[in-house]
Amino acid sequence: MNNSIDFIAQSVIQNLESGVLVINDEGDILLVNPSALKHLKLKHHILQPGKNIFHIKELTPFVEIYKELLDKKESISRRKITLDIEEENILGLTSSLIKEGDKILGAVFLFTDLTQIKKLQHEAEVNKQLAQIGTLTASIVHEFRNPLGVILGMTEFLIQKTADKPELTKNLNLILKETEQLNLLVNQFLSFARPQEVYIQKQTTDFVIEKAINICSHIIEKHSAIIEVKKIPKNLQFIFADADKLSTAIANLIRNAIEVQMEQDKKWVRISVDSDGECIIIRIEDEGPGLPEKIKKHELFKPFVTKKKGGTGLGLSIVQRIVMGHRGWVNCHNRQPRGAIFEIGIPLEPAVGFPNEIPPKTG
Ligand SMILES: Nc1ncnc2c1ncn2[C@@H]1O[C@H](COP(=O)(O)OP(=O)(O)OP(=O)(O)O)[C@@H](O)[C@H]1O
Ligand SMILES: [Mg+2]
Repeated sequence: MNNSIDFIAQSVIQNLESGVLVINDEGDILLVNPSALKHLKLKHHILQPGKNIFHIKELTPFVEIYKELLDKKESISRRKITLDIEEENILGLTSSLIKEGDKILGAVFLFTDLTQIKKLQHEAEVNKQLAQIGTLTASIVHEFRNPLGVILGMTEFLIQKTADKPELTKNLNLILKETEQLNLLVNQFLSFARPQEVYIQKQTTDFVIEKAINICSHIIEKHSAIIEVKKIPKNLQFIFADADKLSTAIANLIRNAIEVQMEQDKKWVRISVDSDGECIIIRIEDEGPGLPEKIKKHELFKPFVTKKKGGTGLGLSIVQRIVMGHRGWVNCHNRQPRGAIFEIGIPLEPAVGFPNEIPPKTG
């Protein structure tokens, strides 16, 4: 009877979704289940019975918790701890001492991985923030569009009419330039304010990239930027995406890449396509100064965060919103020896039940 209860207890622990780690009073591991290895992203040879948690640097937070247990002599429940393994890992942990009378025999740790939940919470927060800003700006910005169109049209008309008066033309060109800048800004705000519904269809990857380059053709030509497009691997010829939206996102990254190289003679951008088995990755590299040191990476994707003179700081948040609409991700890091790399990941297969109809035709 006892044997079969032991067996059941063992198999419950082995199959628990939560990680279980049991140590003796000296920190030697007595028991560790497969979920613990998974949540801690540690290999079996590092985390196994007989090893001591004081000697495993990844387990420093567990050591701290154990010391706290010894100190306070009471259980710790639902504590959030952060592990610095591969990338930041957040665990929800409950722990208590194992005692026999007054004698401490060890401790038990029960934990689950909260990283995914945190990510989802973050996405929901971003979406809420964006929706609020969106509603407000949409109504204001909309009122700007018509007058701006009139100013642009009239200025262009006047430039033609005053070709023989260079002083006037010079000033009119200035008005034109500033108005165009304002127009760009208004359009940025509007694309930000519009709901980002995506309509996913099977596209050729090539088409989406070409479309993005086309959107930027003006800035590419103006600054003689070199755009190097690497040959797309055969198995990644197709992508499930909203071509209009995704190309806008890629175009924003290309534009940023050129803009950060403004001070340099050579403005170089490389676009390549790759995969991690789950997503098709579109990578945009540049040889600019690299990511700003003083801004945390995830902050860059928040609206209105900018280091660019005259920038709105909306470009990357639009990118983030578009890729989220595709159930994808965007990431960035520095490039060696210089520059930055921005990557967009789009699922190789669209999720089941994912909205992928063509939008109803209007007008
Ligand atoms: N390729 C890059 N290399 C280095 N820093 C970058 C790069 N792309 C973006 N950044 C940084 O991220 C900030 C935010 O970019 P984002 O596109 O959101 O706004 P912006 O370019 O400043 O303004 P906007 O796009 O609205 O004109 C930039 O100001 C810049 O500091
Ligand atoms: Mg930008």
